[in-house]
Parts: sequence; C-alpha cells; structure tokens
Amino acid sequence: MIPQETVNLILDTARIEDVVGEFVTLKRRGSSLWACCPFHNEKTPSFHVEPSRGIYKCFGCGKSGTAVGFLMEYEKLSYTEALKFLARKYHIEVVEKEESAEDIAARQRNESLLSVSEYAFRFYKEQLATDEGRTIGLAYFRSRGLLDETIEKYGLGWAPRSRHAFTDAATAEGYKGEYLTETGLCAAWDDGSLHDRFYDRVMFPIHSVSGRIIAFGGRTLLNDKTVAKYVNSKESEIYVKSRSLYGIYFAKNEIARQDKCFLVEGYLDVLSMHQLGITNVVASSGTSLTEEQIRLIRKFTENVTIMYDGDAAGIHAALRGIGMILREGMNVKVVLIPDGDDPDSYARKHSREEVERFIASHEQDFISFKTDLLLSEAGDDPIKRANLINDIADTIADIPDAVKRSVYADACARKFHIESDILLDRIRMTRQKIQAEQHSQAQREEARRRHASGESAETAPVPSSEQPTVRRLLEQNRLLAPSERELLGFILTDGCTPLSFETDSEFYDPAGTQTVAEFIDDALAADGIDFANEAYRLTYEAFFSLYTTGKSQDEIVRTLLDGPDRTVAAVTADLAEEKYHLSVENFSAALTVRSTWLVTFVPRAILAYNDKRLDNTRNRLTAELKDASPDRQVEIMAELGQINAMKKKINIKLGRLKTD
Ligand code: CTP
Ligand code: MN
Repeated sequence: MIPQETVNLILDTARIEDVVGEFVTLKRRGSSLWACCPFHNEKTPSFHVEPSRGIYKCFGCGKSGTAVGFLMEYEKLSYTEALKFLARKYHIEVVEKEESAEDIAARQRNESLLSVSEYAFRFYKEQLATDEGRTIGLAYFRSRGLLDETIEKYGLGWAPRSRHAFTDAATAEGYKGEYLTETGLCAAWDDGSLHDRFYDRVMFPIHSVSGRIIAFGGRTLLNDKTVAKYVNSKESEIYVKSRSLYGIYFAKNEIARQDKCFLVEGYLDVLSMHQLGITNVVASSGTSLTEEQIRLIRKFTENVTIMYDGDAAGIHAALRGIGMILREGMNVKVVLIPDGDDPDSYARKHSREEVERFIASHEQDFISFKTDLLLSEAGDDPIKRANLINDIADTIADIPDAVKRSVYADACARKFHIESDILLDRIRMTRQKIQAEQHSQAQREEARRRHASGESAETAPVPSSEQPTVRRLLEQNRLLAPSERELLGFILTDGCTPLSFETDSEFYDPAGTQTVAEFIDDALAADGIDFANEAYRLTYEAFFSLYTTGKSQDEIVRTLLDGPDRTVAAVTADLAEEKYHLSVENFSAALTVRSTWLVTFVPRAILAYNDKRLDNTRNRLTAELKDASPDRQVEIMAELGQINAMKKKINIKLGRLKTD
C-alpha cells in the first residue's frame, strides 16, 4: 500500500507529456502534442496529449487516460506498479505500508546512496569555507569570474588535499563503507581500507532533474599533464551518466518557458551563462550527446542550439551526435563562438545583451552549417563535392518531417548549384533504406514478443477498432446499463441462493421459495422485458440456459468464464469474480448475512430498474412530442401522466424499502 499523500504527490508531479514521451515520439502542434497512436496501427497521427489537462486521447481508437492510465495500458502495469514507475521517474520516495523485503532493501539502498551523496555535497561545500578551501578553491572560482551567490546556488565545493578527509568524516558520521564505495566517493586500497576519490579539486555537484545530488565532477587546479583535469563520479544506481545533463535542474523551467535549450560542453560554460542570466543552458559534460540526454531535453523543448568553440575540436564536437538529434525530430541550430573563446570566456567578456545579440545573429540552422563547413573544406575538388552532396542528403534524410526535408533539400541544392531533384532522389533512397531497417527491426521485435508470450501470429490482437468490445455492446443503452448490471450481478453471484421472504412481505410466495435468479426472471418476464444491452442480455441468457440444467452457482460461473463466448466471459469475470471468491472463502458467514441482505436488495434492484425503464420511455416520448400530430400529442401526454404516476409509486416503495 502506497500512502495517499505519496500517491497525491506522484499524481501531481507526473507530467503526461514526460510519461508518454518516454515511449512515443510526440510532435508539438499548437498547445498539444501529437503522435501515431501506440495502441493501434496508423499512418497519420490521431493520438494526442494535452499537457494542460494531463491527459492523452486517441481519436482513432478512442483510448484515453492520464499518465497512470497510459502506463497501465501501454506497459501493462497494475495501478500500484504504474505509481511506482512514476515515483522512480520523479525520484519520489515511496514508503509502502507492506513492502516485500526486496523492495525495502532496494529502496533503502537507493536512499542510502542519495543520502551519502547529499552528505558529500554538504561536506565539500563546508570545506570551501575552511582556510585551505578559501585560499585555493574559492580563490579559483572567483578568478574564473564566479560570484559568491553563483557558487552558493550551484553548491560548488572543495575537496581537501588530504586523501582521507572525506572518508574519515563520512565514516565518523556513520555512513557505511559499502555506500561510500558504491557512489564512488571513496575507493578501497588492497587491504580494504578506504580513501577519497576526490582530493585537491574544486567540486561541481551534479543535480538530477528533480534537484537531488547524484554525482560530482572535480577539477584539478594543477597544471600537470599527469593529473587528470576532471575526475567524475563513477556510475551507480543513482547516477547514469548518459541520462544526466549538467545544469538541467536549474535550467528546465527556462528551457520550457523559452521553448529552447542551449547545449554547451562544460561545467563552467553552464555556470557563466547562467550567471549572466541566460539560464536555459545545459552541458553534456564531455561525453558526446546520448539519445537519453536528448529525450531529457525534449521533455522541455524541441529546439536545441549547440554552442561550441569555433576551433576544429569544437566544430567536430558540434557535428557529433547531431544525426541522433535530428532523428528525434528536434530542430537543431549551431552557434560557434569566435576568436578562441568558449561559451564560458565569451559570456564573461560580454554583457547579456551582447551575448544574446551574438547568438541571434550567428545561430545557424544545422544543415546549412554543415553544408557551408563541408563546402569550404571540399573546395573545387569534384569528387569531394560529390561525396559531400551525399553526406548532406543522408543528414537531411534523418529528419522525420517531410516538409522540413524538402525545404532543406532546396536550400542545399542552391548552395551546391545543382537541381534539387538530385538531392531529393538520394534522400528518398536513404529514407527507404532507413524505413526498411526500422520495419524489419519492428518485425523482429514483434516476433520476439510473440514468442516470449507464447502467442501465435494468427491470434495477434486485432486493432481495437475492429474488435467487438464489451464496452461497445454496452453503449447500446447507457441509461439502463447500470441497473441491468446490478441485476445481472445478483444473478451471477447469488442466482442460486433462495430468497426467503417473511410471511408479511409483499413478495412472500405461498407457492414456495424462489431463488434470486427465478425471482428476477419472473419479475422481468411479467413485463415482457429483455435486457436492452446486448452484452448483458447474452450473459443473462447464457446463465439461464445453464441454470435450467440444474448446475450449481459455482459450476455455472466456471462454465461461463471458460466458455467460448468472450463477451459473456468478460461480463461474468467483471461481475462475478470478486464476490464469488468472497463467498467461497467465507462461506457460512457470507451465506447468513447475504441471504437477509438479498431479501432487501434484490427487490429494490428490480424497482430501480423499472424506474430507469420508465425514464427511458419518458425520454423517448418527450422527444417525439414536439413533432407529433395533435392527436398523438394528447396520447403522449396521457402516457407521460401514467409514467409519472408509476414512477411515483416506485419511488415511494424504494423509500419504504430503505433499511437504513
Ligand atoms: N570533461 C571531463 N573529463 C575530462 C575533461 C573534460 O569530464 N578529463 C568534461 C567536463 O564536464 C568539462 C567538459 O568536459 O566541463 C569540457 O572540458 P574542458 O573544455 O576541458 O573543460 P572546461 O570545463 O571548459 O574547463 P576549463 O574552462 O576550466 O578548462
Ligand atoms: Mn573552458
């Protein structure tokens, strides 16, 4: 059991577009996001997500729901599993009332790692205020132009020169060696004793999206080639490098607000830009960008501008990973920082307005950036130019949107002074190749899935729009459905139970005691009524065809559940199962209590059903009234009068029969 407060927190935190976006590629159109529906096969998107209302809906197959509902449907999770999935995603701690020993261990472990990280964060921060920390670490940060408020906000710190300052402090605080090594904050010597991973370095804590400390980067201040410039935390259960972006916690709101994200390389690039007031900036921290990092950004925007040094290394870094960003349907621009500067030094030399103006006038669409770059490298060499055209065509082929592709093809063709058809042909070929690969991969996955679930290809689920669903059958009469459901529920749970009315009851039958099923069937037959909803009518009939053969309740329900008619089985499962188990487990208690209970509620259910039927007729007559002939109108008015009188009687009875 997850406590209600936690459930609420999870539901409040979950963003539908985050959750769906993890499984489906969403495209923004106006205020909502669109995709091809993951629940049925389609070529044009009819599945849409409305972030403001927190729901998804498919106009094709009609599936809709919240973030939790999506996970239940798509990932086939239970309600609780879906909540736990979200809790993990948003780093919300779930303390369950009854957890398995394994759950507890895993959660405690995760919490322990986070709490060790949190402790280290405070430790390094405090060390920055010591004499050593101030003279070396703080002085360095200030020399890099960082203001004290920036240092404080981003939690920068100092790892002392001693090789065991942190180990000693953390051990004295009672943190277990296991967690100290698992987070990579400490390492073990051969003899098993621990020492610090980070020493004599300024420290950059790395926050998760939700602001918890998950790792550190430590920079040496020595100008010694034999000492690594940066030491980073090792990967652990709480830190997966490929999924983290430095600065994302502080940048995410502004990224969403501006609908744009700047991507830089290093910790200091992020800090200097943020300090200048440009806070929609994150860093991939040295590694080339991963798909998971792109998805993380895409939760907030589809527009990424890569900002790198204008030197050769910077340019090549900018080219790396771009295909991936383009394939995700994101819009990519590039800004190269001039004159040997990087975003950090450039930001420090200029005002916010100057930086913004520079970006606005120099940011270049990625495709044209790449074209210009390669064209200048190729010069007049015809072979190089031909290769280059193919290279650009392949890059354009990565863009999922056909309109964008053709715009790019035109622009590039102009730069090469060639017909755009040449480029478009190549793009088409490359896309066919990509699609063929994707198709066969999808087929392989489908085959693997079927194999794993023991399903054969023939019984693969029909798209839901073609399947006769219980819901569709029930939609035939929504007004009557709840009452019919209630009566059928009595039949499926207690159909064979005798109803022993007291002798003074209006339902007392001197001819003998009827069962619940007989009582209901008699009442309906007296009025010549069949259930209006087909799924219920079919189940009702199936029940009685078995009932007349003298089978027990138990046998009837089992036969219906296992029977060939899936509609009947689904309705039976829905209505019979829970109470059915209850009465088997708690047989004697359930029997005595339920039989008195049934005597009251079965007749009430019939009355309520008749009341609804009268409503139904009244609605039909009222609708007919305005177009009817004057004679017919008189008739209708008379019928309506009778209906109202009958309804009144029923309601009095329902009131009188009320037991509480
Ligand atoms: N990086 C790393 N490990 C290294 C070198 C770099 O993890 N050995 C990552 C860091 O996240 C760093 C980024 O790559 O911030 C960019 O590297 P670099 O440009 O060398 O460092 P800067 O942060 O720019 O540091 P500085 O300006 O102080 O030289
Ligand atoms: Mn730098």
